[in-house]
Amino acid sequence: MEGLFSLAGRVALVTGSTRGLGWAMAEGLARAGAHVVINGTGADRVAARVKELAGWGCTASGASFDVTDAAEGKAAIERIVAERGRLDVLVNNAGISHRAPLLEFPEADWRRVLDVDLTAPFRLAQAASGPMIANRWGRIINIASIVGANIARPTTPAYTAAKGGLTALTRALAVELAPHGITCNAVAPGYFATELNAPLRARADFNAQICARTPLGRWAEPSEIIGPVVFLASDAASFVTGHCLTVDGGMVVAL
Ligand SMILES: NC(=O)c1ccc[n+]([C@@H]2O[C@H](COP(=O)([O-])OP(=O)(O)OC[C@H]3O[C@@H](n4cnc5c(N)ncnc54)[C@H](OP(=O)(O)O)[C@@H]3O)[C@@H](O)[C@H]2O)c1
Repeated sequence: MEGLFSLAGRVALVTGSTRGLGWAMAEGLARAGAHVVINGTGADRVAARVKELAGWGCTASGASFDVTDAAEGKAAIERIVAERGRLDVLVNNAGISHRAPLLEFPEADWRRVLDVDLTAPFRLAQAASGPMIANRWGRIINIASIVGANIARPTTPAYTAAKGGLTALTRALAVELAPHGITCNAVAPGYFATELNAPLRARADFNAQICARTPLGRWAEPSEIIGPVVFLASDAASFVTGHCLTVDGGMVVAL
């Protein structure tokens, strides 16, 4: 049992880890022993989070890049491997949404959301797979959503399509990379209290609806994503691949 969830010696890149769920996961992976590479589009925000982790005695570094920039993403992964000798865990977390009624939904926003939420994870998984294959060990964890499988809300067609695509991509990567000792899983969060959905939480009607619709009766705290992600990144999940782990307080199973 001892060490089953330990990530000592592992190197993990978490995209979009300057705040929200990404930051919670970065903290969790670092406290489990991994060297964590913080990512976001703002170099200052990235540097501040690296400093925070180091202040807790964790080992961390920063890679500031926009996940939609293919060349920057590839170069960042090459730098991590050059500096740390490996990349063991990739968490594709950076994500955005855009809400608009279908008849007014701008195609530019459709493309922007698909680019960040689906195409970037594909490209980064591609870039990370090389060093993982070379080490014959790897973990790719895609942060999807409960709206990616079987349920949807009005006015978010791009987000819903992207997250559904990401869950399907997870299965495709899992079957292709398994022979190389690499697992690929998705996590489907329900409603977590982060900046992404602050406008929704501010609406009393929406807030009440989410709490009533969730068997556990509340929004999740960002820290509640840590256990599932550390589990999937660790040796405890060595035979788990192609799975989508729902973390939603029971929302999608409630009638
Ligand atoms: N919160 C929820 O309830 C919930 C539910 C289901 C799924 N999710 C998913 O969980 C993930 C995180 O959500 P969150 O609520 O934590 O979001 P958030 O609070 O808005 O944080 C998003 C993070 O992504 C970074 N980011 C945004 N665009 C980026 C880009 N192009 N390149 C690099 N980094 C970028 C942001 O950093 P910078 O601003 O510094 O670039 C920030 O660190 C998303 O994929 C989201 O879809 C969240």
